[in-house]
Amino acid sequence: MSITVRGAAKINLHLGVGRVREDGFHPLDTVYQAIGIHDDLTVATADALSLLTHVADHIDPASVPDGDDNIVLRAARLLAARTGAPATGAFVVRKDIPVAGGMAGGSADAAAALVAHDRLHDLHTPDDVLLALAAELGSDIPFSLVGGTARGVGRGELVTPVEDRGAWWWVAVPSTVGLSTPVVYRHFDVLHPDAPEVPASAEPLLAALASGEPVRLARALHNDLQEPAIDLRPELGDLIVRGEAEGALRGMVSGSGPTVVFLCESAEGARETALGLAGSGEEVVLTATGPVAGAHVLTPV
Ligand code: C5P
Repeated sequence: MSITVRGAAKINLHLGVGRVREDGFHPLDTVYQAIGIHDDLTVATADALSLLTHVADHIDPASVPDGDDNIVLRAARLLAARTGAPATGAFVVRKDIPVAGGMAGGSADAAAALVAHDRLHDLHTPDDVLLALAAELGSDIPFSLVGGTARGVGRGELVTPVEDRGAWWWVAVPSTVGLSTPVVYRHFDVLHPDAPEVPASAEPLLAALASGEPVRLARALHNDLQEPAIDLRPELGDLIVRGEAEGALRGMVSGSGPTVVFLCESAEGARETALGLAGSGEEVVLTATGPVAGAHVLTPV
């Protein structure tokens, strides 16, 4: 038996970050959106637990963490430990989501692994249990299960779907070299030692989403990790300026970066921006719409 589950990339339309908590995490008020760049994970019945990774041309295979520590295997082992199911399955991941890019590629794989392992062993794990296990594995993994457009609070793991009247067009430009999420958060602390305990509210962004108007959404986009990411990688600031000059409504660092995303007015606008950026030397330029579904089964058993 084998099962294929698709996981989507995420971007943060609003990422309000507060002062670091005692546990080392930052309080967030964020709005996630799942967009149409995917990893597909297949698991087949096997006597042991194993993982093979295939990457799209734009991803450096050496950048993908492998071995026992990979988030896919950790997800399968955690679900097995909590449900009593066997920790077995031959996993194959086909990656298209940029690695260490601020688009939650690892989180998409972990969410897909939870769903796939649950189906493989016919566990019928309740949604609330899957969400709790996802939160143990990483702050944005619950969102990768839920997908669509959702607000995240706490350290980002408490997610609630929100009204989104748009079908938004995005252009994403990954970097060849990833950026470490903890490093970007730590740099935020250095730049903002007096950050407020309560993060910037997502309310204005929610109103823009409900309007369905790209120009309103462009104005409302907000990312508190953009400043530290650009301070660490100044070329990201130049890239944002170039994409906006090519017709994008607004460019922004995605999550902790270094992927930069551009909101465009329409499919045609996204195509023009992507062509312009490719013409100005960017090797990898992806276009995607959002919102799309979270982790879901592609092949029925
Ligand atoms: O939860 P996750 O494993 O994705 O977090 C990775 C790292 O990102 C954490 O160890 C922490 O350094 C940082 N982080 C944070 N505040 C959050 C989420 C993540 O400081 N709300």
